[in-house]
Amino acid sequence: MSRSAHPAGPRHADVLTEGHYSAPAADLNVLDEKVWSRTVTRDADGALTVGGIAVARLAEEFGTPAYFLDESDFRARCRAWADAFGPDADVFYAGKAFLSRAVVRWLKEEGLNLDVCSGGELTTALDAGMPAERIAFHGNNKTVAEIERAVEAGVGRIVLDSFQEIVRVAHIARSHAVRQRVQIRVTVGVEAHTHEFIATAHEDQKFGIALADGQAAEAVRRALALDGLELIGVHSHIGSQIFDMAGFEVSARRVVQLLAEIRDEHGVELPEIDLGGGLGIAYTSEDDPREPHEIAKALSDIVTRECEAAKLRTPRISVEPGRAIVGPTAFTLYEVGTIKPLEGLRTYVSVDGGMSDNIRTALYDAEYSVALVSRTSDAEPMLVRVVGKHCESGDIVVKDAFLPADLAPGDLIAVPATGAYCRSMASNYNHALRPPVVAVRDGEARVIVRRETEEDLLRLDVG
Ligand code: LLP
Repeated sequence: MSRSAHPAGPRHADVLTEGHYSAPAADLNVLDEKVWSRTVTRDADGALTVGGIAVARLAEEFGTPAYFLDESDFRARCRAWADAFGPDADVFYAGKAFLSRAVVRWLKEEGLNLDVCSGGELTTALDAGMPAERIAFHGNNKTVAEIERAVEAGVGRIVLDSFQEIVRVAHIARSHAVRQRVQIRVTVGVEAHTHEFIATAHEDQKFGIALADGQAAEAVRRALALDGLELIGVHSHIGSQIFDMAGFEVSARRVVQLLAEIRDEHGVELPEIDLGGGLGIAYTSEDDPREPHEIAKALSDIVTRECEAAKLRTPRISVEPGRAIVGPTAFTLYEVGTIKPLEGLRTYVSVDGGMSDNIRTALYDAEYSVALVSRTSDAEPMLVRVVGKHCESGDIVVKDAFLPADLAPGDLIAVPATGAYCRSMASNYNHALRPPVVAVRDGEARVIVRRETEEDLLRLDVG
């Protein structure tokens, strides 16, 4: 492996005067524990280790690119959420962030419930033994076949997303001679401070039924009138990667107001509200996420206060964190390939993956951090853009970051906080092979989702 120095991109001082980037960390070798999973550290040789295993060994055994998931951190985060909300609330892990059969088993063991939003996620959950009553089924366009499977399996709740679906689910439930427990997803009209594509509570979008113009109240009327449905509550999800609790407070307040209106009109107090997921995590040192216990306290305080004011029994609260549980628990390991310094601009560092294993940067302008992990370095910081190997200039993994100027082909670099929405949104663009997910715990590493092979690609291509 070559260790020769490469011409660096702009130096620290140039960059600071440009004013576009944060300064590099004082010491690039220090791993900020905010963005790395809990068992990550550097060993005596300077290599990053996770679960007690050094990245060089992981790369040798499992190849790159690969996602390494810190199982004990995942389990600890599940417990932290469950403990924070306590026995009078329910935590549903949002499977869309990342789902595999191993993950389902961990969730089951740690006492969490599971939110699924497709037939594929439902199959994975049931196959790995998640009890159906602990599953919530979401989606704005569930097919009849999916609804039938969910009803037949006996899922704990289906979250209704449209007027048509109210009728559809009621009909299917009746034909199976069951009363399906359902919630109605409402859009509360909150503008979440996040990327447009992941904000979901403003009215002009495809999810839910609007509160503002009385549509949600009408949906409740219809659902209560259908005997195939047992309406257990109201659901609101305002968006994703949100740090400011104000949006959740407004959402909780409006949902409780709807419960009061339902009580006044129908004489029923719905027993549950679901406030969705969307809690932000640290992708870079600049992000400051809240702890689950702070979030739980803020949400339950507001719901209790609003219910007291409306003289309602406090409903059982549920939440659906996906990213906040799995996001921080994994990093993607890449091998550095081509390094291209562009004088006066930055240095392009190409890795052996890219937008096929992390589409979030291209799609949402997401920010990530990156570190040299196969060794430490005392070289000065160089401004880099970490890019993939795809045929597209938007194939960017980390837009602006600093790596040591002696970075060389063959070095291993890692992007932390890639546990959520990276493997689950991975693609085969350019016939890339989707990377494996390797769970690491207490000195042992095992593949939980294997790497795709070229045979997998050819198997789907029936010629
Ligand atoms: N509940 C519902 C109804 C949702 O739609 C979602 C996310 C969640 C819970 C979980 O949200 P989380 O806690 O993971 O933020 N692909 C995007 C995120 C899309 C989220 C869609 N729904 C991303 O990579 O940021």
